[in-house]
Amino acid sequence: MSKPRELHDRYFRLAKAEGYLARSAYKLKQIQQRYRVLRRGDWVLDLGCAPGSWMQVAGEIVGDSGLVVGIDLLPAKLAPTDRIAVLQGDAFGVPPADLLSLLPEPQARFNAVISDMAPNTVGIGDDLRSASLCRRVLGLLPSVLAEGGRLTMKIFEGAEYPNVLNEARSMFTYCKGYRPDATREISREMFIVAEGFHAPTGAGRRGPAGPPALAAGWGSGGTSSTVQPVIAPIGPAPASDGAKPVSKDTRVEARPTIEPRPKTEKKAPSKAASKTNRKPAATKRPAKKKPTPKRASARRGGAGRRGASRP
Ligand SMILES: C[S@@+](CC[C@H](N)C(=O)[O-])C[C@H]1O[C@@H](n2cnc3c(N)ncnc32)[C@H](O)[C@@H]1O
Repeated sequence: MSKPRELHDRYFRLAKAEGYLARSAYKLKQIQQRYRVLRRGDWVLDLGCAPGSWMQVAGEIVGDSGLVVGIDLLPAKLAPTDRIAVLQGDAFGVPPADLLSLLPEPQARFNAVISDMAPNTVGIGDDLRSASLCRRVLGLLPSVLAEGGRLTMKIFEGAEYPNVLNEARSMFTYCKGYRPDATREISREMFIVAEGFHAPTGAGRRGPAGPPALAAGWGSGGTSSTVQPVIAPIGPAPASDGAKPVSKDTRVEARPTIEPRPKTEKKAPSKAASKTNRKPAATKRPAKKKPTPKRASARRGGAGRRGASRP
């Protein structure tokens, strides 16, 4: 007989004791410890942020000079603060410009994207749906991530995992798969961690392309949405934890949107590209002044710790 799943394991208890909203906090902490995927002062986009433990951890790392913008289909459970903005909706239904509009400077981009998004697990095809989500995240990067930026993205291991990893590799200088200790033994989840983003040719590019610093732990070598947008005020905390309703959109198999950048090809002078050249963002540190979200419907949530839930 197989061992019953231990719901309240060490990390669950630790999260409760240390005031994190979910045990997943320790996955990001361990990834951070190994790869330093987030830095003080970073502007971070957190995809699939509810209930909010990654935002708590990210908020601690980026500090007062940084900013974390999170989005989830579900409401997050964070108390308001001026350094963390929470949107409720489909990460792929919101126009990227709306996400960027929450940054304190015009023309700026995020330094890091973190995605803990997961499809609704049904036992069959979960890995394929997870790979689809990841491809959509990769497809979003050229619109939101600064050159040289970093990515941390959850994926369920399966037939498509090596392909998605390769697709990510074609967009980053360094890219690896990593499984933190806090991941449950029975889980098939892996995390793709990458640094040194370079947008595929033709995609909207913005921000400087300074050589990415090799972070500790890296070693060497390293669509249009059919769903209506989305930005809505955060609602009251849900009664139960762990529910992962996934929009119809995320259940649909998405095709890879990433193609390797041909080395010799000239950059297309797209509208987005010309915009990007106006103001570099990746080397820029966030301004001292507090960001003011331009959308009245975006509400800021805090890094305040509460009880732990169980993603
Ligand atoms: C494992 S949970 C994230 C836990 C979170 N990182 C934390 O530490 O609190 C995965 C989340 O992905 C969200 N999700 C899945 N598909 C999404 C989508 N298309 N847009 C936004 N959120 C999505 C789910 O609603 C769910 O809350």
